[in-house]
Amino acid sequence: MKKLEDYVRSIPDFPEKGIIFRDVTSVLQDKEGLKMSIDQMQALLEGKDIDVIVGPESRGFIFGVPIAYNLNKAFVPVRKKGKLPCETVEMEYALEYGTATIEMHKDAIKPGQKVAIIDDLIATGGTIEAITKLIEGMGGIVVKIIFLMELEGLHGRDKLKGYDIDAVIKYE
Ligand code: PRP
Ligand code: ADE
Repeated sequence: MKKLEDYVRSIPDFPEKGIIFRDVTSVLQDKEGLKMSIDQMQALLEGKDIDVIVGPESRGFIFGVPIAYNLNKAFVPVRKKGKLPCETVEMEYALEYGTATIEMHKDAIKPGQKVAIIDDLIATGGTIEAITKLIEGMGGIVVKIIFLMELEGLHGRDKLKGYDIDAVIKYE
C-alpha cells in the first residue's frame, strides 16, 4: 500500500535554484492522498482541548478547514497583506525564499481561546512564528501546531521553542 510520503512530488530548483519544492498538489489530486493527509494530521490533535483552528493562506486553508469542520471547531484564516476587509493586526516575516506580510482580523481570536495552527509545511518557521505572535497579541493560547511536512534541515522548530509541534512527514 502507498504511504503518504509517496504522494509528495519533489521538484528541484523551484521557485529558485537550490530549493527542493515539496509539492502538496500531488497529494491532494489523489483521493487516497487527500484522505490520508487530512486523517493523519487530524489524528495529531487527538486529546487536545481546542476552541479554534488557525490556518495561513493558502495551503494552510486546504487542511485547516476540513479538520475544523470534522472537529466541529471554528476556522480563522491568516491572509497575505491587503486581503482582509476589517481592522487587522499584521506581521512581516522571512521565508525560505523572500519575505511576506500576513494579517489577521484583530477580533478573530478572543482572549483565552485555545488555538491549534495547521499548515501544509514548515520550512524556516517564519510564517508560524509570525502567526503565534499575532495570536498571542490577541490573548489567544497556542496549544498545538501541526504540519503535513517538515523540512528539518531548515531548523524551523528553533524559532518555535516551547510549542507542541507535530509533522506527519519529515524531510532531512
Ligand atoms: C509556504 C507554506 C508555508 C510556508 C512555510 O507558504 O505553505 O505556509 O511557506 O515557510 P516558512 O516555514 O519558511 O515560513 P507560502 O508563503 O509560499 O504561500 P502559499 O501557501 O500561498 O503558497
Ligand atoms: N514553502 C517554503 N519552502 C518550501 C518548500 N521547500 N517546498 C514547498 N513549500 C515551501
